Amino acid sequence: MTSWWQKAVVYQIYPRSFQDSNGDGIGDIPGIISRLDYLQLLGITAIWLSPVYKSPNDDNGYDISDYEDIMDEFGSMADMEELIQEANKRDIKIVMDLVVNHTSDEHAWFVEAKKGKENPYRDYYVWRDPVNGDVPNDLHSAFSGSAWEYDEASGQYYLHLFSKKQPDLNWENKKVRQEVYDMMNFWLEKGIGGFRMDVIDLIGKLPDQSITGNGPMLHTYLQEMNQATFGSQDVMTVGETWGATPEIAKLYSDPIRNELSMVFQFEHIGLDQQEGKDKWDLKPLSIGQLKQILSKWQTSLGREGWNSLFWNNHDLPRIVSRWGNDKEYRVESAKMFAIVLHMMKGTPYIYQGEEIGMTNCPISTIDEVDDIESINMYNERLDQGYTKEAIIESINAKGRDNARTPMQWDNSAHAGFTTGTPWLHVNPNYPEINVKQSLADEDSVFYTYKKLIELRKEHAIVVWGEYELIEETAEEVFAYYREFSGEKWLVVANFSESNQTFTLEEEIGEVLVHNYHTSLPKSGEVLLKPYEAFATKILKNV
Ligand code: NOJ
Repeated sequence: MTSWWQKAVVYQIYPRSFQDSNGDGIGDIPGIISRLDYLQLLGITAIWLSPVYKSPNDDNGYDISDYEDIMDEFGSMADMEELIQEANKRDIKIVMDLVVNHTSDEHAWFVEAKKGKENPYRDYYVWRDPVNGDVPNDLHSAFSGSAWEYDEASGQYYLHLFSKKQPDLNWENKKVRQEVYDMMNFWLEKGIGGFRMDVIDLIGKLPDQSITGNGPMLHTYLQEMNQATFGSQDVMTVGETWGATPEIAKLYSDPIRNELSMVFQFEHIGLDQQEGKDKWDLKPLSIGQLKQILSKWQTSLGREGWNSLFWNNHDLPRIVSRWGNDKEYRVESAKMFAIVLHMMKGTPYIYQGEEIGMTNCPISTIDEVDDIESINMYNERLDQGYTKEAIIESINAKGRDNARTPMQWDNSAHAGFTTGTPWLHVNPNYPEINVKQSLADEDSVFYTYKKLIELRKEHAIVVWGEYELIEETAEEVFAYYREFSGEKWLVVANFSESNQTFTLEEEIGEVLVHNYHTSLPKSGEVLLKPYEAFATKILKNV
């Protein structure tokens, strides 16, 4: 059986930074509605909407204080319903962010839970007594420091795997699970297209054994959730699973297990991080490793799983700055990343601004940073003796604000994002890099994305074709075949800024997409320019 989401191309919107409609400097839902025609032109078929629920914004909406209401800055429930309808009119489904590993500490459940050990909501969260007058154990928060916060009033600690304003829900409590399922059904009834599930691999945690990811009950909970909510509906579900291997991914997405449609795996994302260290501890990317890892994921899921394909999201630096060249070869390298990813098997995700080649936005002092993760890390590392310069260097390479600067629509003040003061600085390169300019230039990154989406819609081989890595190439050249129903395509990409050569073993036919205007030989040796990439049909063996 096939599903719409296997053919979908998903566009991620980070609402705070997408489009402001009322001049308060914060993106909002009416702003998104006003840009739906642009997204339709691009050709995407689903939107993953980062959280729009009520939130005190300690972690920009990933700390939810009411799952069934909309953040005031973003609009109203009526706006949200209009967005779902207006998107559906354009054949675009809205996939909501489901953040249920934790709530905000301002959620009514936690406010009640804090009232005392006997409160009926106490057990909605994870509370433990001190051990020898100290934290229960050495579990660490992803946002620095201990994952345990002391509550003076009751003399107990509560667990927060993220900020202390994001207390972890206790999934062992049946009532918690039922509340979550009811809330999911509330949204499904509004006609949404599915859920992106935030750090879903953590819900089976066993904190006393220092087990956080992949706990023993994780898949039992997901099967229960599937049955209680979306199981009988034609929706898409994608789990954020940092520690997934292909074997683990199959547990989530094998259709016979009735859990999720697919997961986000992050193995390729970790390749420029020193082993056993944090994301901030950088090392150069090995292109050879990147090819091996992406190819492993392409070939190992078979019918027991489905891949998601992405380079970017709201937590990651811009790929063109990270592994491409955001200066001299910005356009070429942005297109190269697009071609390599969108010609693969799986559901591609585009993060807002990626389609116009938006870049990282370096800062020089911590005062310019908004993101809680970067700020906490800065303070922790200062205490540990790192220099300010070294920490800022890590933030510029990997900090989450790189992805969160406002969307660049045109070259007017604040890039057309707002008429007010933007909540986060606009990247100063907006006069050159913006949507208006991209639409006017037929050679822009935008039109490569548009073309790639069209190819996926028009050719079954892009969706279903088998993938095969071509091993005998220069290290810097990433080349692979797709094959389906007697048809064969070739994709070739130069991941470096030096010239490379590639040998066409077969005669090629129509060139489907190419980021240079040069013509390709029919067979034999091709000289690849910096970041050159193309996809072609194969005619026959020579
Ligand atoms: C993953 C989200 O993508 C990230 O933005 C957030 O900070 C954490 N989960 C906590 O919800």
